Amino acid sequence: MELKDAIRKRQSIRAFKPDPVPRDILVKIMEDAIWAPSWGNTQPWEFSIVGGDTAKRLGEEFSNNYLNKVPDNPDIGMPEQWPDSNMSRYREVGKGLFETLSIGRGDKEKRGQHYVNMFRFFGAPNVIYIYIDKELGTYSVLDVGIITQNISLLATDYSLGTCIEAAAVRYPDIVRKHLNIPNSKKIVLGIAIGYPNWDSPYNKFRSNKENLDALVKWVDV
Ligand SMILES: Cc1cc2nc3c(=O)[nH]c(=O)nc-3n(C[C@H](O)[C@H](O)[C@H](O)COP(=O)(O)O)c2cc1C
Repeated sequence: MELKDAIRKRQSIRAFKPDPVPRDILVKIMEDAIWAPSWGNTQPWEFSIVGGDTAKRLGEEFSNNYLNKVPDNPDIGMPEQWPDSNMSRYREVGKGLFETLSIGRGDKEKRGQHYVNMFRFFGAPNVIYIYIDKELGTYSVLDVGIITQNISLLATDYSLGTCIEAAAVRYPDIVRKHLNIPNSKKIVLGIAIGYPNWDSPYNKFRSNKENLDALVKWVDV
């Protein structure tokens, strides 16, 4: 697949077929993804690639915590405020997704089910967890963002779908416990990965992107 086609085709996938991703495909994706740039080639990322019962157990514990209203404690704090322009895009994506799913504003039960789905990685058979040393800062998190996009685009090339999930790291102690990750690491992201269920309304939703003119100031170009 052409790079620009993969970029345009990638979308967050929020419903998956149960079939696990073959390990050799995950290996191929990761072998290419690690050619990502990073600050001073520090390559701060470490991965746990999870499947089977472990992925299921993680999803169960995350969704139980959500249902029992256990306060979350992500290693990287969730943003509490957004500037207006960002906030309106954030609201728009939520509204659009719930409209596509025919979930009304006041439908607490269906909204709750959506969050349960999210904490269960939307049914993805595999999850790629990315973590870095706790002492590392913003630039290393930025590096994780870059490799995350590599993974997402490579997955697209293999007809796989991904959903990058901050939700997957909201209870990092559960992740540490099941994946045997030491306290010295900060868990940055989880990427749900698997074969998309294209029949699900979830995957009919596509987010809008801002017009270039609103984003770019051209200077002496
Ligand atoms: C850092 C990061 C965290 C995200 N966390 C979540 C999440 O927890 N749950 C979710 O459904 N989507 C999550 N997303 C997906 C975004 O909502 C999605 O990328 C955005 O709405 C744009 O849609 P697109 O990916 O289809 O282009 C996350 C994306 C990023 C980059």
